[in-house]
Amino acid sequence: MAGAIYRKPITLAVMATVTILVGSVVTMAYPMLRADMHPKLATLKPYTALQLAGRDVYQREGCMNCHTQVVRPLPSEVARYGAYSQAGEFAYEHPFLWGSKRTGPDLAREGGLRPDAWQYDHLANPQKYVPRSNMPSYAFLKGRLLDADQVTSHLAALAVLHPELKPDPAQVKAELAGKDEADAMVAYLQQLGHAVPRRQALAADLTVENPLAHDVAAVVKGQKLFADNCAVCHGDEAKGQEGIAPSLIDDVFLEVKGDMPDAAYFAMISGGSDAKAGLGRPGLKDGGMTAFGGQLSKQDIWSIIAWLRNQKAHEAAEGDDHDAQEHR
Ligand code: HEC
Ligand code: HEC
Repeated sequence: MAGAIYRKPITLAVMATVTILVGSVVTMAYPMLRADMHPKLATLKPYTALQLAGRDVYQREGCMNCHTQVVRPLPSEVARYGAYSQAGEFAYEHPFLWGSKRTGPDLAREGGLRPDAWQYDHLANPQKYVPRSNMPSYAFLKGRLLDADQVTSHLAALAVLHPELKPDPAQVKAELAGKDEADAMVAYLQQLGHAVPRRQALAADLTVENPLAHDVAAVVKGQKLFADNCAVCHGDEAKGQEGIAPSLIDDVFLEVKGDMPDAAYFAMISGGSDAKAGLGRPGLKDGGMTAFGGQLSKQDIWSIIAWLRNQKAHEAAEGDDHDAQEHR
């Protein structure tokens, strides 16, 4: 009886196909219709018109051919980039821009890592910051005004799946007025990774003293290390650059008057802006200090601090001379 079906090849083929189709729908298609297959982190904010315009430029320029946007759960990646990527971060990604090639670093946690001014300047001239960088210049984005109608229709298309993105054309127009593709790109880059907490700051032990303080060889070495790693942002003499990085030899530290001990310098250099929470000072709203803990040894960092203290002493001495002259 059961063997009878095998003697009817067409019926067998039809029934086998139907059975396989039912199985496929149950195991593959049906789960995709369930909301829990499309998680959305509570902290995930929908794209603004300007950010979405930047994402479009990112896609058009093929940035994902050199940059990934996904941190894998591997200790080495988490140490370098921060918290690994979660499914719930990607709800608004149509299509995903994960990429598969890392000619440049992963950008999933780029938001807030650098100040806006740095991002604008680096986009226009990557080699100014990293001389061996093979990233092309995107200076041409400056001055190319955004098309509000295009962004509105993109938002409207996304709103089919995400009603919260439904655009108000007048508002989009106002938001994009006078903005160019460089503005959009920076706005996009600065929101990357916003839905996950920044790296946890380790509480700094501020009683640790610099083992290399006043060590002449360390001061010389520190000057060279500073020139190689820090001068692009803080300036050759550590006096800072407007809009990019603060002076390191004035008596303001993280935007508050009053210097801090060497250990606080160590914490900032090693942990970058994420260390601020452990130091109890606000600093710049957008942060932007790179963490060097993975690249520089403790000896190197203490050497740089020894040089900075030396510079600061010079500066103070010159200031006094200056005052003395003025009082004369
Ligand atoms: C040919 C490959 C290539 C392309 C294309 C490319 N980049 Fe890069 N990018 C790099 C490399 C290499 C670096 C690391 C050196 C540097 O900072 O310039 C980098 C660095 C960066 C950084 C700094 C990351 C950090 O925090 O250190 C950002 C931001 C960035 N790229 C954005 C972009 C954007 C946006 C685009 C598209 C408009 C783009 N890149 C296209 C290769 C590329
Ligand atoms: C990409 C640009 C950039 C580079 C490179 C950089 N910094 Fe910074 N640095 C900043 C910014 C921006 C701040 C302010 C951060 C904040 O307030 O969150 C800062 C803050 C600091 C502070 C806190 C002091 C203060 O007065 O606010 C120290 C110390 C510091 N940097 C040292 C260094 C050293 C040493 C290096 C090189 C090893 C370095 N930085 C490289 C951008 C940079």
